[in-house]
Amino acid sequence: MDIKGKNVLILGATGGIGRHLAFAFASRGANLLLSGRRKMILSALERELKNLSVLVKTYSLDVTREADFVFLTRKIKKDFKNIDVLINAFGVGVYKSLEETSFGDFKKSLDVNLSGVFLSIKYFLPFLKKSPKAYVISLGSGMGKVGVAKRLAYCASKFGLRGLMLSLAKEYKGKNIKFCLFTLGSVLTSFGPLTLEEKIEKQKEGKNYLDPVQLAKTIVSKIENDTLIEETTIYPKDYYKESKKGIV
Ligand SMILES: NC(=O)c1ccc[n+]([C@@H]2O[C@H](COP(=O)([O-])OP(=O)(O)OC[C@H]3O[C@@H](n4cnc5c(N)ncnc54)[C@H](OP(=O)(O)O)[C@@H]3O)[C@@H](O)[C@H]2O)c1
Repeated sequence: MDIKGKNVLILGATGGIGRHLAFAFASRGANLLLSGRRKMILSALERELKNLSVLVKTYSLDVTREADFVFLTRKIKKDFKNIDVLINAFGVGVYKSLEETSFGDFKKSLDVNLSGVFLSIKYFLPFLKKSPKAYVISLGSGMGKVGVAKRLAYCASKFGLRGLMLSLAKEYKGKNIKFCLFTLGSVLTSFGPLTLEEKIEKQKEGKNYLDPVQLAKTIVSKIENDTLIEETTIYPKDYYKESKKGIV
């Protein structure tokens, strides 16, 4: 797909991976529709991206609120006929044992990481259908394939997301919309309980992380080259071994 002039909607653009995706798509001349809850970060991102002379629109949205999707789709409809690429780059990392996990924690994990993706796809489907060729990309995790101790709420949400995305890939096989899941190992962002600084320290001690800049470029180049498949797994060195031992 030639990305220049295509409409790319990133939900979770204020996050560590989402931000770099926005820059990677901007470097290819995409029109950017960026969303997250934090308005100040969205505005700062918009200012930075406008220096690259691309069209940028920002929208505040909480993926756990269906009413926000109703409002946002109405707003987007005024400016855009179709969406060519929808990226679900939002998520929360509830990393707790069963005894520490409240029902609220568990619900939050599923509401954001799983139901949020369902709502996103459901509400933006009419825009995706109008594109000659569209991609829906969601960011899954190795913890959506392997159970890990003290990560039950996160694992449950990402196992569910994997089921959702792989089912849709089959349901839409041969149609204009491709559903693609990225199953990722640890990425160097502030996601989850550790800060970015703490992760940088761990990296110095030998832990491996994926670079979010490189990851974003890989995703964009796979779209450009039409080489996306229903599930792409990218792990840093030793991630698989560590996840089996429950120490990721
Ligand atoms: N980093 C990793 O190690 C890693 C590994 C595997 C998979 N992933 C997946 O990759 C995705 C992005 O991770 P990241 O590293 O970029 O995390 P991050 O830096 O913590 O960003 C999380 C993003 O999710 C958004 N978000 C959270 N709750 C939201 C809500 N209720 N409504 C709307 N947006 C919400 C945040 O935006 P606002 O706060 O502005 O709303 C932010 O943009 C997640 O799905 C994560 O599970 C990450």
